[in-house]
Amino acid sequence: MIEASACSKIILFGEHAVVYGQPAIAVPLVDLRAHVTLQPSEVGLVFELPRLTESIHCDTTPSHPFCVLVQNFSQRYEHNLPNVCIKITSQIPIASGLGSGAAISTAIVRGLGSYLDIEIPLETQNELVYAIEKLFHGTPSGIDNSVIVFEKPLFFIREHALEMLENKLPFRILIGDTGVTAETHVAVSAVRQLYEERTSKTRAVIDEIGRIAYEARDCMKRGSWRDLGALMNHNHRLLQTLTVSTNQLDLLVTQAVEAGALGAKLSGGGRGGNMIALVEERDAENVTEALLKTGAHQVISTLIPSVTR
Ligand code: PMV
Repeated sequence: MIEASACSKIILFGEHAVVYGQPAIAVPLVDLRAHVTLQPSEVGLVFELPRLTESIHCDTTPSHPFCVLVQNFSQRYEHNLPNVCIKITSQIPIASGLGSGAAISTAIVRGLGSYLDIEIPLETQNELVYAIEKLFHGTPSGIDNSVIVFEKPLFFIREHALEMLENKLPFRILIGDTGVTAETHVAVSAVRQLYEERTSKTRAVIDEIGRIAYEARDCMKRGSWRDLGALMNHNHRLLQTLTVSTNQLDLLVTQAVEAGALGAKLSGGGRGGNMIALVEERDAENVTEALLKTGAHQVISTLIPSVTR
């Protein structure tokens, strides 16, 4: 049996603006992963998914994104479609801004590579996964697949070479899950509509979010957590004006800051999903309690490691 996995991710700064060419900052969550196991199958190419009682048979549903992923893989490596059963298990909450779809696709590509004894460069993994992200989301910026495949903090600008981010000191992020699933493409379409209706005002907000991402990159390089927290609060207010926050997200953000977080904001597509709070170690417990008391479904605590060049 072959096993493979891929991490999840959070966006620290720049979601939505990244779709319009502004920079965004995303970090991998290495401990929260999607896993696959692959075994020979006697009934062709089959996927077993969590929470689905019936398997997906690619000969009857070839347009399922995961089947397309294997077809693309097979074409790229001039290999027949393998007769394999790919069982997916994932610790990553779905449709909540943690990159569950991209993580599963990445784990599938890695698993197929091992199963067929083909070494797949990270750039190729990224291309294969991005193609499937487009099937799921329409016009993704590519940030999710990039941070998940490379498993490194990224300063990401659409259609630019990837920039690995420097981070002077480790810092703790709490992720508050609203428990409300939200499809990224719905929030992205809402911002697109706003952009079309009120272009100059929306453009100004998007540009300001981009400016924050540049500043945040410098703060991480210097280890200035107070400034980074203030930038998160500012970024959240701008996301509110893009209409992607909700009362619940706003409340979680406010309560986190009141309980001692250095800053907080929604993370990912919004309209549900997750918020994040930057905390000093001594405040982590307090803020976690405040988030749970405010109705967070769960709180995940993660230490973003230092990365120096
Ligand atoms: O997949 P999510 O929910 O983390 O959102 C991705 C970030 C967006 O900027 C909203 C969309 C994109 O394609 O970059």
